Amino acid sequence: MNNTSIANMKRTDMCGVLRTADVGREVIVNGWVDRVRDNGGVLFLLVRDRSGIIQCTFDKSVDAELFNIAFTCRTEFVVAVKGKLVARDAAAINKKMPTGEVEVVASELRILSRAETTPFEISDDKEVGDAIRLKYRYLDLRRPSMQRNMMLRHRVTQVARNYFDEQGFLEIETPMLTKSTPEGARDYLVPSRVHPGKFYALPQSPQQYKQLLMLAGMDRYIQITRCFRDEDLRADRQPEFTQIDLEMSFVEQDDVIAVNEGFLQRVFKEVLNVDIPLPLPRMTWQDAMNRFGSDKPDLRFGFEIKDISDIAAKCSFKVFHDTVENGGSVRLINVNGYADKFPRKEIDKLGEFVKTYRAKGLAWLKLAADGSMTSSFAKFLSEEEIEAIKQRADAKPNDLLFVVADADWETAVTALGALRCELAKRLGLAKKDDYKLVWIVEFPQFEYSEEEDRLVAKHHPFTAPMDEDIALLETDPRKVRAKAYDIVLNGCELGGGSIRIHDPELQTKMFRALGFTEEKAKEQFGHLITAFQYGAPPHGGLAYGLDRLCMLLAGLDSIRDMIAFPKVQNASDLMMQCPDVVDAKQLDDLSIAVTRVEKTEE
Ligand code: AMO
Ligand code: AMP
Repeated sequence: MNNTSIANMKRTDMCGVLRTADVGREVIVNGWVDRVRDNGGVLFLLVRDRSGIIQCTFDKSVDAELFNIAFTCRTEFVVAVKGKLVARDAAAINKKMPTGEVEVVASELRILSRAETTPFEISDDKEVGDAIRLKYRYLDLRRPSMQRNMMLRHRVTQVARNYFDEQGFLEIETPMLTKSTPEGARDYLVPSRVHPGKFYALPQSPQQYKQLLMLAGMDRYIQITRCFRDEDLRADRQPEFTQIDLEMSFVEQDDVIAVNEGFLQRVFKEVLNVDIPLPLPRMTWQDAMNRFGSDKPDLRFGFEIKDISDIAAKCSFKVFHDTVENGGSVRLINVNGYADKFPRKEIDKLGEFVKTYRAKGLAWLKLAADGSMTSSFAKFLSEEEIEAIKQRADAKPNDLLFVVADADWETAVTALGALRCELAKRLGLAKKDDYKLVWIVEFPQFEYSEEEDRLVAKHHPFTAPMDEDIALLETDPRKVRAKAYDIVLNGCELGGGSIRIHDPELQTKMFRALGFTEEKAKEQFGHLITAFQYGAPPHGGLAYGLDRLCMLLAGLDSIRDMIAFPKVQNASDLMMQCPDVVDAKQLDDLSIAVTRVEKTEE
């Protein structure tokens, strides 16, 4: 019988850590066969574990029996190798491998388990389709890059735990089976067996619990916790994701920001050895929208948006003139220094691009290197008007101006904001290792929901309005700004939070502004309203998207690669093959009758 236990073959070292200083030692390594190289009478097994790869050699002329066992090994076999660590000959040194100056001269080999040919090669050099990667995620996770991702994520969570512990935060768990929370997405529901017809909701965030923990006198809370949101997935969104969630008592916005700046500085230093200078810049929401057309501006490149409505109002180009006359806005960006990169055909395609952001058109003006001008709209304008626009845009030779006119200023800036990011991407101006953090503050308290035809909370209904805007709650709610803040990194919303309302009277006003009747507010938030009557400390907090933070630290484009077992676009898990049907008995226990079942494609 084959011996497949590790008795007498317990590892002494991880594969990837062996170095010249270890030469002369007898070592045992355990791991997967990454590659088999046959060099005539000498066989090389490259053995891989989480730490890296080490070369083990088997010489037929020294030990033919051992050589023959090694000869049966295939990639992904799990092996234990014992041998002496020796320095490689100068000619055999592999500079590309961290262990490339040494090798294990094997004296013993045990095959711990055999492997079928894997559906794809375990290597970072091979392009593998997403579906196959996710179906065999445990193989995908063996790839060195995925192992690095998991290690980075581990490091980030450890830094978070240590840092917030040092700052006096208590780690407290909150329930997964709970009541619907108002974070704005759809809930995942869990049926109750003991309460037929009733459901728990999985938390979209621990928002209400963490506030109740402040009322409970816990002072400072942190949790690294799963959140569930049934929403359309994108590269930076998963139906279940992880937040570093925190809340603090007796604080104002500046206190929350200061503690979190300390955390961000620590994470960047410990994980990437990058120094982040503090304090971080802050920008109001209005400024971010006006200058970058986004509440998560990417500050790694310029092309800032400028307002030319005043010039446009006076000109005779109907599109510009009428837009402003009807209360709209005309804005532009200057893609300075890159006009030669965009031939006419490209520019026309960009016109289609901005239409996906609801812009009605894209006017342009191009200055060649010799200063000569071509434009889609210049013919409608006087020389002075063109000069005024060029001056506003600070236009120089080889500059390219893009203009959007729209009845809604937000549509105009949003389209130009998306365009500036798209152009920077095409021009390679957004470097992954250039980290531009910024706080966005003074968010509007409300936004208009077309679906519900009413104002809804932009953050959530417990967010405090700015003191100077409280009076506007009853007179002009759209103008109310909130004590809410987002932390943005390179165009991605890393986290967000707010100072909460702790005064029951102000909370009542807020519910009223949101169109809740007293009964409706009681029905949905009765437990909170009651709790706030027994002494609530001023408090506020924030939550980071851990997956996003790790994605950006790792320089990746999708949070999927930072999650061990992620879901695909349609929220299914290809490896576990769920969601799935359940048997009739289970449904019956839950008093559930299924009216429609998705056809499974084979
Ligand atoms: P918010 O809803 O802004 O705030 O969420 C906080 C952060 O969580 C991340 N995030 C996501 N990450 C991956 N997939 C998703 N589907 C997803 N949705 C959100 C983002 C976001 O910035 N309770 C409040 C926080 C507070 O007020 O303290 C909250 O949940 O990075
Ligand atoms: P036209 O007279 O329709 O050929 O338009 C002249 C230029 O104005 C073209 O480049 C159009 O793309 C552009 N244009 C049309 N509508 C808008 C708009 N709302 N904002 C900016 N440019 C526009």
